[in-house]
Amino acid sequence: MTIRQLQDEIRRLKEEKDFCILVHAYQSEEVTEIADFVGDSFGLSQSAAQVPQKNILMCGVRFMAETVKILSPEKRVFLSHKDAGCPMADQIDAETIRQLRQMYPGYTVVTYINTTAEAKTESDVCVTSSSAPQIVKNIPNDKILFLPDCNLGAWVKEQVPEKEFQFMRGGCPTHLRMSAADVKAAKEAHPEALFLVHPECHPSVVALADYVGSTTGIMAYAKKSDKREFIIGTENSIVEHLQYACPDKRFYALSKDCVCHNMKLTTLMDVYACLKGEGEEIFLDGETVRKAKRSLDNMLAYGG
Ligand code: 13P
Ligand code: SF4
Repeated sequence: MTIRQLQDEIRRLKEEKDFCILVHAYQSEEVTEIADFVGDSFGLSQSAAQVPQKNILMCGVRFMAETVKILSPEKRVFLSHKDAGCPMADQIDAETIRQLRQMYPGYTVVTYINTTAEAKTESDVCVTSSSAPQIVKNIPNDKILFLPDCNLGAWVKEQVPEKEFQFMRGGCPTHLRMSAADVKAAKEAHPEALFLVHPECHPSVVALADYVGSTTGIMAYAKKSDKREFIIGTENSIVEHLQYACPDKRFYALSKDCVCHNMKLTTLMDVYACLKGEGEEIFLDGETVRKAKRSLDNMLAYGG
């Protein structure tokens, strides 16, 4: 079977089995092509809460599929590859959050959406990279305990200087592979290019950016810009998607090492297998769903 034939078979099965396919932007081009929705974490959460289909396949990593299940517990939710986890999500559990709460009484616990369902049960408000500054501004408390990504936290703090923040030392190992030295080298090689970066990068990298935003934010900025060259400081799938979308522009990866191997586990054959009934279904108990949903509902409410 060719890739095109496999994609057509997936589209046919999707209709037949009443599936909606949500695809995170870090997936490969051929997987994004069979999606009902492609987006960043915030956009996918919004879509997940609204789609009419009874079954949802999340092509991404486990916390994303869990988020879908929390928002739509009555639906059957599947993860595209059983081993696709997120090392950042594994950095914090519910017990650690309970201990941090005791250390910082009076603080609102704001967790990045890149956390497990279990951790979300102890969170007051979830945020995503695209929604974090706005949500933190809207929270009616000036004391924010921001977990687990201190790099995203530092970027939010810069935009909401009126609030007081506490952080832990968490972060995305994929984005932390990029350094200020990489930026210097890329700018020397491509002096006309704008530098677009994800806020999961280290603050010394983010400080050098022309634009900081989520995966969707970076893609929208590059597509709209009248500039022709861009250095991309996020997972390298975004370079690939942008080059397909804008063949008359030039996109350069900040580092060839910025590859999330968890995101890259999913292939079209995995998608096909899920639709054939061989996928990894997400099960969460009712208590976890009820408690974790509060922080996601707050995210959607404060995020607009
Ligand atoms: P966004 O798509 O929300 O920017 O998140 C990036 C990411 O690292 C997802 O795991
Ligand atoms: Fe997790 Fe980073 Fe991969 Fe996103 S890019 S899934 S935060 S490891």
